[in-house]
Amino acid sequence: MIEMHDIWKTYPDGTPALQGINIVIDRNEFVYVVGPSGAGKSTFMKLIYREEVPTKGQLSVNGFNIGKLKQRKIPYVRRNIGVVFQDFRLLPKLTVYENVAFAMEVVESPRRQIRRRTMEVLELVGLKHKAGSLPAQLSGGEQQRVAIARAIVNSPSVIVADEPTGNLDPETSWGIMKLLEEINFRGTTIVMATHNKEIVNTLRKRVIAIERGTIVRDQQRGDYGYEA
Ligand SMILES: Nc1ncnc2c1ncn2[C@@H]1O[C@H](COP(=O)(O)OP(=O)(O)OP(=O)(O)O)[C@@H](O)[C@H]1O
Ligand SMILES: [Mg+2]
Repeated sequence: MIEMHDIWKTYPDGTPALQGINIVIDRNEFVYVVGPSGAGKSTFMKLIYREEVPTKGQLSVNGFNIGKLKQRKIPYVRRNIGVVFQDFRLLPKLTVYENVAFAMEVVESPRRQIRRRTMEVLELVGLKHKAGSLPAQLSGGEQQRVAIARAIVNSPSVIVADEPTGNLDPETSWGIMKLLEEINFRGTTIVMATHNKEIVNTLRKRVIAIERGTIVRDQQRGDYGYEA
C-alpha cells in the first residue's frame, strides 16, 4: 500500500513539481498516472521508489515511512519495488540472463535460487530462448520484457512503470500491457505513468490525473481525458 499525505516536492533549483498530493493506492491496484508533460508524473513515481525524497509531507510504502527511512532500510524497501523505464535501461554488456540475475545478486540471493527464479521470470515474459543474447540483439519490445523480468524477479509488491510503452509501436505496446496485466493479476500493485490515450481508454483502470503538481482527477475505470 502506498499512502501520500500532503506531499510537496520542490527541486533544489526552486522548481515546484508536486504541491499537496494526497493519495492512497491499495494492494493489488492497477493505476494509470496521466497528465501533460511537466505535470509531475515522473516526480510522483520517483518519490515512490525513493529516487527523490519529498520536501514536505508523509509518504509510506508498505508501511515504511519513506521520507524518514534509515539508510540501512533503503535496500529492503527498494527490493519491494520494481521499476520499469521508457528507455529500458538494460546493462549493454550483460546478457539477458545476466541482466535479470544481477537484480537478485545485488540483494544477495542464494545462487541456486537465482538460477531457478531468473529462468522462471524469463519464461513468464516469453524470452527464455533469448537468455544468452545481448540487449542490442533484441527488439525494443523484447528489451522491455527483459526490463519487466528484472523488475519482478525479486517478487516486489509494487511495480512502478514510467511510460513503459513510450518507445514502442502500438502492437508491441499491447503485448507489454498484457504482460503487466498478468503480473497485476498475480498480485502485484502497478503504478504506470503514460501518455497512451488508446491504452488508458481501452484497458480501463483507475486513473489519477496530475496537472501542475496537483491531482485534478482520481477515477475508477477512468479515461485518458486529454487529446493525444
Ligand atoms: N531534477 C530536476 N530538477 C529541477 N526540476 C526538475 C527536475 N526533474 C523534474 N523537474 C521539473 O519538475 C516538473 C515536473 O517534472 P516531471 O518530470 O515530474 O514531469 P512529467 O509529468 O513526468 O512530464 P513528462 O510527461 O514530460 O515526462 C517540471 O517542471 C520539470 O521541469
Ligand atoms: Mg515523466
